[in-house]
Amino acid sequence: MFTGFVSFCLVSSALIQSTEAAHQIPLIEVEVGKNVTLQCPVTEKDGKFVHWFKQSPGYMIQTVATGSYTKQTLSEEFNNGRFSVSEGQTLYFLSMRNVQKEDEATYFCQYGSAYSQTFNTSVYLAVNGQKWDPVIIVLGTLLALCVIVIAVLILSRD
Ligand SMILES: *[C@@H]1O[C@H](CO)[C@@H](O)[C@H](O)[C@H]1NC(C)=O
Ligand SMILES: *[C@@H]1O[C@H](CO)[C@@H](O)[C@H](O)[C@H]1NC(C)=O
Repeated sequence: MFTGFVSFCLVSSALIQSTEAAHQIPLIEVEVGKNVTLQCPVTEKDGKFVHWFKQSPGYMIQTVATGSYTKQTLSEEFNNGRFSVSEGQTLYFLSMRNVQKEDEATYFCQYGSAYSQTFNTSVYLAVNGQKWDPVIIVLGTLLALCVIVIAVLILSRD
């Protein structure tokens, strides 16, 4: 009877964990050239470690930043002036400025002690191309008109 109850508990907690693992990740959309900051909320930071990972579709996971205690360090590849890491009381931040198309990826924040780490944040960062600039539309229309005028002039010679 008791063992039956225990195994019921184990099965249901396994089921709960597997439904948790199936959560969809949120989508953040940003335009090329804009700035974005990803947040990683944590419970408390004492003696804990934090890692930021990036996974571009079809590529291996890359480590963006690593942190222990109160110091986060960017990996060499991401230490290019566009990425920065910071933190609040119970939050870690990963900021990107002047977002580029190649920044589009899933980002993870892994957090925990040396023995037990969990993913506290997963987001898909979608980077959208720049909207059409009205100046480009006006100049493009004028250029098209010029081409038509020139063509008409050439055809109407002789
Ligand atoms: C992005 O952030 C930088 C400072 O970190 C600022 O100079 C720049 O104006 C910001 N760009 C946009 C599009 O908000
Ligand atoms: C981060 O993950 C740990 C371990 O699962 C959890 O205890 C904690 O509540 C999480 N923090 C947040 C704010 O999600």
